[in-house]
Amino acid sequence: MSGDRLPIGVIGTGYVGLVTAAGFAHLGSDVYCIDIDADKIARLEAGEIPIYEPGLAEMVAANRERLHFSTDIADALEHARLLFVAVGTPPTYSGDADLSAVYAVVEAIPALATRSEQQRHALVMKSTVPAGTGASIKRVLAGEGKQGLSYVSCPEFLKEGSAVKDFLNPDRVVVGDDGDWAGDAVVDLYAPLQATVVRTDIASAEMVKLASNAFLATKISFINEIANVCEETGADVIEVARGMGLDDRIGQKFLQAGIGFGGSCFPKDVNALKQLAGNSGYHFQLLNAVIEVNELQKRRVISKLLKHLGSLVGKNIALLGLAFKPNTDDMREASSLVLSARLQADGAKVRVYDPIAEEEARHLIRGVYFATGALDAIQDADAVVLVTEWEEFITLDWDDVASRMAGTVVLDGRNALDREAVAAAGLTYEGIGRGTLTSLT
Ligand code: UGA
Repeated sequence: MSGDRLPIGVIGTGYVGLVTAAGFAHLGSDVYCIDIDADKIARLEAGEIPIYEPGLAEMVAANRERLHFSTDIADALEHARLLFVAVGTPPTYSGDADLSAVYAVVEAIPALATRSEQQRHALVMKSTVPAGTGASIKRVLAGEGKQGLSYVSCPEFLKEGSAVKDFLNPDRVVVGDDGDWAGDAVVDLYAPLQATVVRTDIASAEMVKLASNAFLATKISFINEIANVCEETGADVIEVARGMGLDDRIGQKFLQAGIGFGGSCFPKDVNALKQLAGNSGYHFQLLNAVIEVNELQKRRVISKLLKHLGSLVGKNIALLGLAFKPNTDDMREASSLVLSARLQADGAKVRVYDPIAEEEARHLIRGVYFATGALDAIQDADAVVLVTEWEEFITLDWDDVASRMAGTVVLDGRNALDREAVAAAGLTYEGIGRGTLTSLT
């Protein structure tokens, strides 16, 4: 890649920040990565990647000489005009997004009004923020004599677990700006990816992000409700989703029924959009249902287990997978958190295993046995629940599993297992929205 690319700063080295930094370094920019967490910066400096994300370590290593790590925002200000902001915006108790980290960045930038037009900086917002945040930040900047600072909204759409691939192949790049140099510079930066660019105003760009996540979450809750109806009617939700998805107005993606969505984004952003609407006097009814369906979906596992086992008291239940989805160690809002707590409350003994997320999970899940592998988790289990569809669970030898279990119930929370193979091993398979398949032996 060429060495004449614009240098950039990236504030925040979480999933979004680090992938953005590595991605732009890969495209040829020098990238100045800033984080207030000195320990994290030291680890990155030493070549350690603090998160599990396929392909990220390789991309960072391959572009190491263009990646600079520091805790001092002045390093980014000195070398780069575009400062991508990728700090966390976690939910507050009210469900609104907590913007304190975003405003801390705004505060940390000194007033540089004396600088010439060519030396001025821009904040490029990657963090997911409520629509209207850009306008509020611009008011704050004006109040602090920092009018020289431009503002661009450039929301991120990458998915954890495929973040590097998503960065390099975006469906679209959304750039919301005031029509000044900064918007053009961001569009130029993305040019090598040859993506469709949506150039719009700041508030609309902010809303594209929230609306996209809320729509995808709605799609999941919708198919989960269809799955629940399928269970009552004898239909198979996989067949139903396939038939629906072939209509290209609907599409196949995000129609996988399961035990609910988790992660750092959907639960938070659906709530944030609901609150944003509520704060401006609009009651967004649909999103209430999306959230409620998702919560109930996690708990349906318990009623399914009760149906098979009668009572959960003293029963061994194995949870395969803990992360909110495969290929990540992220435990935020994972269905496993609700499940492990509910199972224990109902008297079950819970054995869990996740190939990558165990360390994260140990901070959040108490009272369970952390198994050394899938087969260790399954040992003497009365029921096995697939919580996260990691590849190694899908390829399990079900005859081996059957020989180790005390009971026969396999609950496929992601509709990811080969149900014929499970039943052929003498086990009872139940998925989500597709009925039960009992022992074929
Ligand atoms: C989501 C969006 O997909 C990204 O576009 C967005 O950039 C990101 O949030 C964000 O705002 O940062 P992510 O949370 O990484 O990405 O993960 P997804 O792959 O979207 O999955 C979210 C949850 O939905 C997972 O728990 C997954 O198991 C569940 N899901 C997904 C289903 O239950 N069914 C589906 O059909 C798809």
